[in-house]
Amino acid sequence: MAKSPTEAARQGSPIVFALDFANVADAERAAIRVRDAVGMVKVGLELFVEAGPRAVAIGEACGLPVFLDLKLCDIPETVERAVGRAAALGARVLTVHASGGPAMLARAVKRAASEGTGLAIAAVTVLTSLDAGDLERLGVSGDVTTHARRLARLAFDEGVRTFVCSPREVAAMRAELGGEATLITPGVRPTDGSATGGDDQKRIATPARAAADGADWLVVGRPIRDAADPLAMARAMRDEALAAMPA
Ligand code: C5P
Repeated sequence: MAKSPTEAARQGSPIVFALDFANVADAERAAIRVRDAVGMVKVGLELFVEAGPRAVAIGEACGLPVFLDLKLCDIPETVERAVGRAAALGARVLTVHASGGPAMLARAVKRAASEGTGLAIAAVTVLTSLDAGDLERLGVSGDVTTHARRLARLAFDEGVRTFVCSPREVAAMRAELGGEATLITPGVRPTDGSATGGDDQKRIATPARAAADGADWLVVGRPIRDAADPLAMARAMRDEALAAMPA
């Protein structure tokens, strides 16, 4: 039986390398270069729209599980069928929007389980690009964290056990969801401040902070992709996170 995402993170590297590249060749080359220090690779919308299944096949080429970050949100039937295809492609984690509602979440989880490939459905709660003013315009009252917790609870109650959240929310999510949840956080930056310029991540955390707060997986893109020595950067971030993970 496949290991749970949390188990896998603790046994190897908790670093998810975001393959934010415009083509498969560049993404695959970069993934192979750092594979010894990362535990998973993330294929996002850019690469998937460009290359589809060939992008997911990078996982096989570099020997790592694939986090398919498509943030699905549609009627339950459509999402369920997409989950079936993602499982067939061999993805290990697939993101869906918790705001797609209880039926969509439940059908996604059920379909992933019935495929028997070890695919985990991960819920995205509130996009980190939205603030309280945006939520208000969408008709949602209250602060962002309260809404994120509400959506996380809904997803948990429908069977979701994996969540994507900002480093700032990790501790609150862990408190809300308990030890059974697998938490994945982007916005992780190296402790030495060597992240390259042009960075639009505002709510950031170091690997140690995110891991100490309860993150199981840390999504890292540009700090590894753009480092002078990507493998050394991935190793340093992995070692720092592993050392800070609660026993
Ligand atoms: O380059 P960087 O480390 O900021 O990459 C982070 C990755 O995580 C990107 O692929 C980005 O799309 C993704 N992500 C994010 N913030 C979220 C959700 C996903 O940065 N809230």
